[in-house]
Amino acid sequence: MAKATGPVRIQVLHGPNLNLLGTREPHIYGTTTLAEINAELERRATERGAELRAAQSNSEGEIINLIQAAKGWADAIVLNGAAYTHTSYAIRDALDATEIPTVEVHLSNIHAREAFRAHSVTAARSIGVITGFGANSYYLGLDAALSHVEATRRSHGKAGKRQIGKQRPQRKR
Ligand code: DQA
Repeated sequence: MAKATGPVRIQVLHGPNLNLLGTREPHIYGTTTLAEINAELERRATERGAELRAAQSNSEGEIINLIQAAKGWADAIVLNGAAYTHTSYAIRDALDATEIPTVEVHLSNIHAREAFRAHSVTAARSIGVITGFGANSYYLGLDAALSHVEATRRSHGKAGKRQIGKQRPQRKR
């Protein structure tokens, strides 16, 4: 289980072909490389007092392994499942199984492209989806994930205090 106190921990996961960012169809995905995106995510996380890990894989099974491994460490995931977004019930099952709050991000606007991209099988399992803002989608996704975890911690903190307030004072004997 992720900790309820201490620095918020975010696992960023990049799916297939995103290792090619910078040179891959720059008219669609921009010219920022994956290393540059990860460095900027790291910088922003540190600025917010959070910890961040980023990983990329071209293999569906490896992404599932990474989601499973995030359980126990990550408070939230920022996921760009790339093409697996549209096909992978197995990744969706991994998100269900681990119950880690997830923000789905896409560089391109998946609703403004080929019809097959408009459907995401993982979106329904996500807190929300950010799509179409280029590299900025990741930074907005990080912000959304951090805000979600911070708000959850605050509301759990308040619920905890209410419970304590409810306790009857001990009678003196
Ligand atoms: C993508 C959109 C997907 O449709 C595509 O397969 C990708 C990248 C995006 O970030 O825009 O690889 O997830």
